[in-house]
Amino acid sequence: MGQQVFSLFHLERNKLLSIIGITFALILAFQYFELPYGNILVPTSNLRSSSSSSSSSSILQPAYSPSASEIYNNITLLNQTNSEHPLDKVNETRLYEENDTISRTVIGMNLSREVNNSYHNLHPLSPAIAPTYLTPPPAASPLTKVLSNDSEITDSMNDERFKPLKDDVNVMNHNSSIVTVPKVTTSSLIKVPEVTSISDMDKLLLQSHASYRSMRPRWSSAVDQELLLARSEIENVPVVTDVGNLYAPLFHNVSMFKRSYELMEKTLKVYVYREGSKPIMHSPYLLGIYASEGWFMRLMEANKAFVTKDAKKAHLFYLPFSSRRLEEALYDSNSHSHRNLMQYLNNYVDTIARKHSFWNRTGGADHFLVACHDWAPSETKQRMSKCIRSLCNADAKEGFVLGKDVSLPETYVRNAENPTRDLGGRPVSKRKTLAFFAGGMHGYVRPILLQHWENKDPDMKIFGMLPKSKGNRNYIQYMKRSKYCICPKGYEVNSPRVVEAIIYECVPVIISDNFVPPFFEVLNWESFAVFVLEKDIPNLKSILVSIPKKRYLQMQMRVKKVQQHFLWHKSPVKYDIFHMILHSIWYNRVFTARTR
Ligand SMILES: *[C@@H]1O[C@H](CO)[C@@H](O)[C@H](O)[C@H]1NC(C)=O
Ligand SMILES: *[C@@H]1O[C@H](CO)[C@@H](O)[C@H](O)[C@H]1NC(C)=O
Ligand SMILES: *[C@@H]1O[C@H](CO)[C@@H](O)[C@H](O)[C@H]1NC(C)=O
Ligand SMILES: *[C@@H]1O[C@H](CO)[C@@H](O)[C@H](O)[C@H]1NC(C)=O
Ligand SMILES: *[C@@H]1O[C@H](CO)[C@@H](O)[C@H](O)[C@H]1NC(C)=O
Ligand SMILES: *[C@@H]1O[C@H](CO)[C@@H](O)[C@H](O)[C@H]1NC(C)=O
Ligand SMILES: *[C@@H]1O[C@H](CO)[C@@H](O)[C@H](O)[C@H]1NC(C)=O
Ligand SMILES: *[C@@H]1O[C@H](CO)[C@@H](O)[C@H](O)[C@H]1NC(C)=O
Ligand SMILES: *[C@@H]1O[C@H](CO)[C@@H](O)[C@H](O)[C@H]1NC(C)=O
Ligand SMILES: *[C@@H]1O[C@H](CO)[C@@H](O)[C@H](O)[C@H]1NC(C)=O
Repeated sequence: MGQQVFSLFHLERNKLLSIIGITFALILAFQYFELPYGNILVPTSNLRSSSSSSSSSSILQPAYSPSASEIYNNITLLNQTNSEHPLDKVNETRLYEENDTISRTVIGMNLSREVNNSYHNLHPLSPAIAPTYLTPPPAASPLTKVLSNDSEITDSMNDERFKPLKDDVNVMNHNSSIVTVPKVTTSSLIKVPEVTSISDMDKLLLQSHASYRSMRPRWSSAVDQELLLARSEIENVPVVTDVGNLYAPLFHNVSMFKRSYELMEKTLKVYVYREGSKPIMHSPYLLGIYASEGWFMRLMEANKAFVTKDAKKAHLFYLPFSSRRLEEALYDSNSHSHRNLMQYLNNYVDTIARKHSFWNRTGGADHFLVACHDWAPSETKQRMSKCIRSLCNADAKEGFVLGKDVSLPETYVRNAENPTRDLGGRPVSKRKTLAFFAGGMHGYVRPILLQHWENKDPDMKIFGMLPKSKGNRNYIQYMKRSKYCICPKGYEVNSPRVVEAIIYECVPVIISDNFVPPFFEVLNWESFAVFVLEKDIPNLKSILVSIPKKRYLQMQMRVKKVQQHFLWHKSPVKYDIFHMILHSIWYNRVFTARTR
């Protein structure tokens, strides 16, 4: 692991302008890319040339979520001797500079044109995974992954895995930039990711659905036409007035959702792979914070309505693995490496790709997985990168692809016999506490939350771990009695608190920049939840008290309305969490499928 390969991508301003026609007055260059086979989970990196004359706009920054990166990867990319207050990272101009030694000669091109303003994103790669690809950044948010029409480039490049290092990849992209993968041996600079707000995500999703298509199938199938037809029906749906027991204000567009859901019920067929042995495959685990992957597996494998044994009829192929079981079975805590976990999944994919032709038809684009463990995004970013990945750890900055991947709700199931036990909470008039949080000091956000609000204000019940109580009663009682339940990120962006708040009818306050919330494809989260940027933690109380009572009552009522979409049932019912997860997978497949 001594060497990392860095990819450098350039889009010069003038050419970019000529292509996307947007005026970037100050920005000379952007790069944007994704790593279909990257096996290292590292924040988007940024190089500032060593010849940069002025660093007035750059200050030293801690890497984004460094602890997680360290856990996942035994690489010394992030030199964190200069840790600063994490809140400082919300400054777009900042760069994290570790070691400024990547010279022009190393990069192999003349950077002097760009030194002032360009962002040179570097992704460290292992030598084995040199092929990468580039898409131009969307205007709204250059560092956010969004899909574009360039997917064919990726597709063709992905087939050439394990290219030798010396074959630096050069791809003309939009006739505007040259992609190179130069060989670099030292660590480099880490660009602190920007924040993608929930409304940015909404825009990016639309953009992605409008422009991205997955790989063109290698041969055609009747299901391709069915998906195309479904898409057209969804996009052209007339406004539906009778929406049954759906509550329209919860949705971006309830007519589209309703039609898509009906089409799913009518059309969708799922093929479930039988390959793979227990416990990692086919062995659902139904309790705890990762339970949603287990419940989904249990219900999908037992399902009669959607499952087909005839793979030719299948629109989607389910890879029934458990990321929790994978960790349990294969993770060696002495090694601090999950390389063997990735290897296991790679072997699994190789096995099914050898045995069946379905994988090769779309390069996995019509395959999906459902995984809740924190490590699932990186475990599945190699061979499974083209699949629709339903992940609890849905981090817009860590490889989650808006419009393709699906945010899986993290549900804390305490009783497998009765997963919806304790549902509900006090009426609003009896919710005396303004805001509640309790939990471990995971990640960098929670210590900041406590620093500002623990024992500071009687309205703000902000704690560390609560004393143990039977069935966690104290915690649940607080949720049932509070107006707002604070859901700060932990080590990763997701938290079971979001669904817990909904279950206990407490308005969720999500403090987790770049978290893509569940069913985001269809739900209008801002209609029933509050999003507070991490940098605004000091203003948390004033933000909450500034919400008018009328608005609070409306949100709380909507939380109750949205509850049905977050409940597990041993026999699934219409619009429940099982069907909503499947629907989001279906919906993204419909919007990304293409015909031969
Ligand atoms: C961002 O950082 C630069 C340089 O340190 C500073 O001048 C600027 O005021 C900061 N912006 C914000 C919004 O804090
Ligand atoms: C991190 O930076 C410090 C000081 O800048 C340096 O002494 C140390 O060797 C660096 N660590 C690594 C792993 O590069
Ligand atoms: C940066 O890396 C180079 C090459 O590995 C090393 O010689 C140099 O000491 C490093 N500088 C710092 C500040 O860590
Ligand atoms: C690098 O680019 C600058 C500006 O475009 C140019 O003046 C300079 O001569 C170039 N240097 C080399 C070595 O190509
Ligand atoms: C960088 O910006 C400074 C001032 O903004 C300017 O004087 C200098 O010529 C610029 N350098 C390049 C290479 O564009
Ligand atoms: C690429 O861009 C150049 C100018 O930047 C233009 O002359 C050339 O025709 C373009 N090539 C294609 C294939 O569009
Ligand atoms: C993507 O391709 C489609 C048709 O191939 C085209 O209509 C659309 O404008 C393209 N989108 C972008 C962003 O280039
Ligand atoms: C929902 O989508 C349909 C079809 O695209 C469109 O006609 C309708 O105006 C949309 N409704 C809303 C409220 O956006
Ligand atoms: C992790 O990296 C350190 C330092 O490079 C090394 O000593 C250690 O053996 C590595 N562990 C694994 C499991 O690769
Ligand atoms: C699918 O493609 C892989 C690699 O291209 C090949 O090894 C495998 O045999 C193919 N599978 C089938 C069933 O043709």
